[in-house]
Amino acid sequence: IAGGPQPAYIRAMLDAPQTNRPDLPPEIGRRRTFAIISHPDAGKTTLTEKFLLYGGAIQMAGQVRAKGEARRTRSDFMKMEQDRGISVSASAMSFDFHKGDREYRFNLVDTPGHSDFSEDTYRTLTAVDAAVMVIDGAKGVESQTQKLFEVCRMRDLPILTFCNKMDRESRDTFEIIDEIQENLAIDVTPASWPIGVGRDFIGCYDVLHDRLELMDRADRNKVAETVSISGLDDPKLAEHVPADLLEKLREDLEMARELLPPMDPAAFLEGSLTPIWFGSAINSFGVQELMSGIAEFGPEPQPQRAEPRQVSADEKKVAGFVFKVQANMDPKHRDRVAFVRLASGHFERGMKLTHVRSKKPMAISNPVLFLAADRELAEEAWAGDIIGIPNHGQLRIGDALTEGEALRFTGIPSFAPELLQGVRAGDPMKAKHLEKALMQFAEEGAAKVFKPAIGSGFIVGVVGALQFEVLASRIELEYGLPVRFDASQFTSARWVSGPKDAVDAVIAKNGQHIAHDNDGDPVFLTRLQWDIDRIERDHPDVTLSATKEMM
Ligand code: G4P
Repeated sequence: IAGGPQPAYIRAMLDAPQTNRPDLPPEIGRRRTFAIISHPDAGKTTLTEKFLLYGGAIQMAGQVRAKGEARRTRSDFMKMEQDRGISVSASAMSFDFHKGDREYRFNLVDTPGHSDFSEDTYRTLTAVDAAVMVIDGAKGVESQTQKLFEVCRMRDLPILTFCNKMDRESRDTFEIIDEIQENLAIDVTPASWPIGVGRDFIGCYDVLHDRLELMDRADRNKVAETVSISGLDDPKLAEHVPADLLEKLREDLEMARELLPPMDPAAFLEGSLTPIWFGSAINSFGVQELMSGIAEFGPEPQPQRAEPRQVSADEKKVAGFVFKVQANMDPKHRDRVAFVRLASGHFERGMKLTHVRSKKPMAISNPVLFLAADRELAEEAWAGDIIGIPNHGQLRIGDALTEGEALRFTGIPSFAPELLQGVRAGDPMKAKHLEKALMQFAEEGAAKVFKPAIGSGFIVGVVGALQFEVLASRIELEYGLPVRFDASQFTSARWVSGPKDAVDAVIAKNGQHIAHDNDGDPVFLTRLQWDIDRIERDHPDVTLSATKEMM
């Protein structure tokens, strides 16, 4: 495939209507909901900016990253994040992308990049239909890329790869592709092929469309010059590409054609093949081609797993689920926003939906769409969109909103924390305030909070150590409460489930080890795997589980 004219079946796919489910209503078929995954520093923030720039959401890339200032995009709200340069909370951005005479609606869900926030990231990935994996051309597949990739794999998410920083010295193209294939066990097909390395990098050959894309180093926000080429023997190539680079390009593409699989949209959609684009986000190079790839290959909003049946995007009735709750996003408003992924239907502002957990109707009168520049009232939204619903705590992670049907969306887990600490208010008179703050963070999913069955105080559990610091700083910032964390005698937490008598027996016998989470569910705390094994042996009906499904 690489280089030469495309086989007919691929041409047919590329020319086909831009959706792999042509039966979907056009408003739904044009939606693309995805996340970007990467190791810190690979260029996720820069790429996000360029997406917004091409999406017309911002005038100039500089608007999101003021020069000289800490590098942050508008998707980050918290001061903490600015100070540390990490993205603590995932948020969503919507923007349009034009390709030919078609207009796509992209919903980009931002994932926290730091490894301490993997649970949050996992939940975010339950809300998207595809992921863009950004890797640094000099570093290849890094630890965090690998972890996030594994999460995508569990969900069979289609993955598009962007190999960034090609303007700098980077690894050999085959080596990069090999590393992805080996380390991630996924087939790779080149969507573009870099020409020259480092300072000699001049652009890419667009393998899918037989075009030359030439990078302009002078203007970082400029769209690349495109030259149509009728194949690798086209004499026009020599007008733009120096002889030595051209020879290498021809050789490389010849070899790629023999060694690498062709683009196969079906294999991409099932997650076994990733197309790779090469570019330089900071030079705006390769970004539009990547966006075109997202538009072309999709996928459009996918069916969502639920009980007792899965939910298809084109169903007339509205259904959606909460995958994230964020409190105090704007300290001025002290609000709490539940992020809802719409799984089906056409939502209109003011609609009454059923909150399935409480079986109560809820009028959604002030939903928010996260257009990159600002929050905006959402007058309407379609399957695939992410809307924010301000609320006072009724909406929790995993909750379903429907037009009456008792659906339960599945696959949104809560992981057992790997680190436990006791927590106390700096001022003992403020214990009640602390409890309120902790409950709020627990519902938001920012930490696990356990109330020991015997004694006072709380035990807080997190997945990564940095979360303790984030928590302490947020409790102080948002509640004006200085807190102290102390070492806890426990290191593991397991949810206890099974027939009521059996669970009660475990609780009665192990009082010192029992606590309750913020839903009131019993948890067994220990520092020894041996204890866990013992309970499972003595109480065969009881399950001690490291995950609990939200809801
Ligand atoms: P992240 O969100 O994945 O952590 O990465 P981010 O976009 O913040 O990029 C990390 C660093 O890499 C930044 O440099 C950024 O400018 C640089 N970068 C991003 N894309 C490219 C690229 O295509 N080519 C090159 N050469 N560099 C790129 P920094 O020095 O940390 O920040 P800044 O001072 O440039 O803002």
